[in-house]
Amino acid sequence: MEKDVLFEITKEHLETGMRGYPVGYCTTSSVDEKKGLFYVGKPVSEMSHFDPIEVIYLLFHKKLGDKKEVDSFKEELIVRSKCSDEFVDHVTKLPRKGHPMSLFASALQVLGMVEKVGDYREDCLNIIAKLPFVAATVINYHANAGPVKENQPEMGYMENFTHMLNLPISHKDLLCEVLRKFNILHYDHGGGNLSVFVGKAVASGLQHMYGALSAAMNGLAGARHGKANQDCLAFVQEIQTELGDDPRESEIEKFLKNKLEHHDLIFGFGHAVLRVEDPRATIFYDFAQKHFSSHPLVKIALILRKVGTKILQENPKIHDPYPNVDAISGSVLSAAGFTYPEYFTILFGLARCVGIAIQIVYERLEAREGKGTPIIRPRYIFKPR
Ligand code: MLT
Repeated sequence: MEKDVLFEITKEHLETGMRGYPVGYCTTSSVDEKKGLFYVGKPVSEMSHFDPIEVIYLLFHKKLGDKKEVDSFKEELIVRSKCSDEFVDHVTKLPRKGHPMSLFASALQVLGMVEKVGDYREDCLNIIAKLPFVAATVINYHANAGPVKENQPEMGYMENFTHMLNLPISHKDLLCEVLRKFNILHYDHGGGNLSVFVGKAVASGLQHMYGALSAAMNGLAGARHGKANQDCLAFVQEIQTELGDDPRESEIEKFLKNKLEHHDLIFGFGHAVLRVEDPRATIFYDFAQKHFSSHPLVKIALILRKVGTKILQENPKIHDPYPNVDAISGSVLSAAGFTYPEYFTILFGLARCVGIAIQIVYERLEAREGKGTPIIRPRYIFKPR
């Protein structure tokens, strides 16, 4: 029988982060190198103004819901949203040392220890419902900002999260608008990004949903993955410190060239899959231009978008000289009053757990006519040193 060959592996493909190797199917989203992110076949640019629950409904049910269906899904999530006092009690005794993503990953593990049902679909829905409370609990506790205010999921997914945050924020309404977009744009990014891959790999050994998500969040915490949003903002701030609030294009160009000469990273550019500006970044750039065009960090990020791309395009070895979502998301969050970059990756995790949990449901309960995918077990070739 003739076989469908999707990808031929040669020695050159080894030790290259498995770029482009097809290893399975993803029913929630896909990433096209030229067109960017699609949720269930729909470009994410068409969805950034939706209500977050409508998009979660789409990812979970693989179709857009009508008003009645989405309303009843909202009700279902409201019923599932309460976290026990026991959970809060344990989490608020964990150490506050190190990066807050360690606390977030630990909180998911603790949630599993005290509230796991043991069915991937049930736990997926429960965790989606509880995520805003879990993230707010972790952030408030880490910031020593007092206990979470009353969990009010009927306010709306991100409205409730914003309401539960105890951090001083000047314009919570504007921040909420930004967080709704941020949340939607970060739910999922195909089947092969590191955090979802880790989550699915851990679940393939039949670890439960919470343990798999906790592991996935440790994957997201890395500087090359989710923590890039925090590091990108630090890069924009470094430019601000060095060149002031209103630098000229030529000054930023010189700054970047100097970085390249010293083999330093230009943060916020390039992507493992994309070969165009990340459409998630485009959405944030448009929003930033409309709402925060005079904010110093946004002004610098907008110049970087142009100048960074120009300089990186001059190097033929760079395949993707375009900005990714992290190049602008941190500046937008800061301009909207969320001036706490150490929590940016938790905001990413709050969103990404949704996509990871739904992808795990597919792999564990639906793939291969319901048998599920087998334990992940790639082959490594022995190499004598
Ligand atoms: C993501 O959203 O996960 C990042 O863009 C990284 C990736 O897709 O590999």
